[in-house]
Amino acid sequence: MNPGIETTQLKDIVAHAKEYGFVFQSSEIYDGLAAVYDYGPNGVELKNNLKRLWWEAMTQLHGNVVGLDAAIFMEPRTWVASGHVAGFNDPMIDNLDSKKRYRADVLLEEKAAEYENAGDPARGAALTAEMGRLLTENDLAGVKELIIRENIKCAVSGTCKWTDVRQFNLMFSTQGSAVDSDAPPVYLRPETAQGIFVNFLNVQKSARMKIPFGIAQIGKAFRNEIVARQFIFRMREFEQMEMQFFVRPGTEGEWYDTWKAARRRFHEAIGLPASKLRFHDHDKLAHYAKAAVDIEFEFPFGFKEIEGIHSRSDFDLTQHQELSRKKQQYFDNDVDPATGKPYGNYVPYVVETSVGADRLFLATLCEAFQEETITEGEGEAQQTKTRTFLKLHPAVAPIKAAIFPLVRKDGMPEKAQEIFDALRFDFRVVTEERDAIGKRYTRQDLIGTPFCIVVDGQTLEDDTVTVRHRDSREQTRMPISELRTYIGEAVSFRRVFEKL
Ligand code: GAP
Repeated sequence: MNPGIETTQLKDIVAHAKEYGFVFQSSEIYDGLAAVYDYGPNGVELKNNLKRLWWEAMTQLHGNVVGLDAAIFMEPRTWVASGHVAGFNDPMIDNLDSKKRYRADVLLEEKAAEYENAGDPARGAALTAEMGRLLTENDLAGVKELIIRENIKCAVSGTCKWTDVRQFNLMFSTQGSAVDSDAPPVYLRPETAQGIFVNFLNVQKSARMKIPFGIAQIGKAFRNEIVARQFIFRMREFEQMEMQFFVRPGTEGEWYDTWKAARRRFHEAIGLPASKLRFHDHDKLAHYAKAAVDIEFEFPFGFKEIEGIHSRSDFDLTQHQELSRKKQQYFDNDVDPATGKPYGNYVPYVVETSVGADRLFLATLCEAFQEETITEGEGEAQQTKTRTFLKLHPAVAPIKAAIFPLVRKDGMPEKAQEIFDALRFDFRVVTEERDAIGKRYTRQDLIGTPFCIVVDGQTLEDDTVTVRHRDSREQTRMPISELRTYIGEAVSFRRVFEKL
């Protein structure tokens, strides 16, 4: 499938995300800024829950992982040392008829996927391998030849008239100094990882960390993506959740396997089904990586990367050591059984886990989006309709419970308010009085609220309420005094953590 063509389901999800306050196009009233998005009231809650889950899964669950919040701007030499100034490029190609610009590697990957979908995976794999080889050798003429040989056409003009392939640096830059126009530009970081590398010793010393240990960070990153599409999948401003795990050289293979498995478990624990997740080893390694694997999720537009796990060796720390002339070494006083002496000084190796908060959000939303046919009413009044709801894991749902008085009289609104006041200290809850109860259920289903609590006549007599479950639509009656524990257990992060 051509990922440029949005599937009906993705279109529905994009429309749903806008209508129900999850994601808006940035500066929409000016027709929007391409590949930049804003999160609405429900979106920000969902995204914050995902970020908090990741943060706690890293820093709270691991005694040897600590956090950091580094600045977006960094001394420009950082990006020389990291290799981004010279090597953070995408190969691009333009169609001469439509003037449309494409990523050359994406065109070839799509062609390979076409072969795979048509039942010829060997041909797809051969094409991917050939592309990987050409890109590694920086043979851009060869990449163009391959595109032509594969008869890849522009989706707009339908022609094969291509320009040469050129490398395009993805970093955004801005003026670094208000007084010195010759000052080098300051970059907007294209990954959060470098803020971790340059703080390696600050963190290690101040938090008295012993190798192996990790530093976790959540923050914005910026890339001038050539091909920006598929909604929030590929954005120019996005958020990363990265963790650099510093290890003794020689142990990186074990840690790579450990984190690879741990990160996959995380995605399954928040509700992404195992059947829609897969590992994909990189054909072309980034300039810093010795080994790399993606965790891919099956979006409506196919399997695509949500997280990368990279074995970065001592590449980054050594580069920073050389350019800054500041030693980036660690003294390991553990005894090497082979020599009977301490391991001593070394530049640690790094295993990195890097997941995009926005891609995780999109995967979660795609998986949660459900349309089911239901039958309502009885006898002649019976009708069949489609119910749309978000089957979000309760731990990440934007709102945990909605409290409804059945009618707007007889003291029911006051009772609903009382329940709201009791629950709001623990959970994000709302009250709603307007419209028939069915409509109110529907509104909460559409944003993924796991529980709707209804105050009715009986509540006023015995202090019990009905709790309606989003997924089954079943209702149970329970005392108000039990609500806190009941909801608390369902929405607790512990539910996710226990599966890790
Ligand atoms: N520090 C390593 C690194 O940045 P990456 O594979 O380039 O590796 C890591 O990016 C993750 O960041 C990706 O798996 C993806 O989830 C997210 N990401 C990268 N580019 C993105 C973009 N343009 N829009 C949204 N998310 C992006």
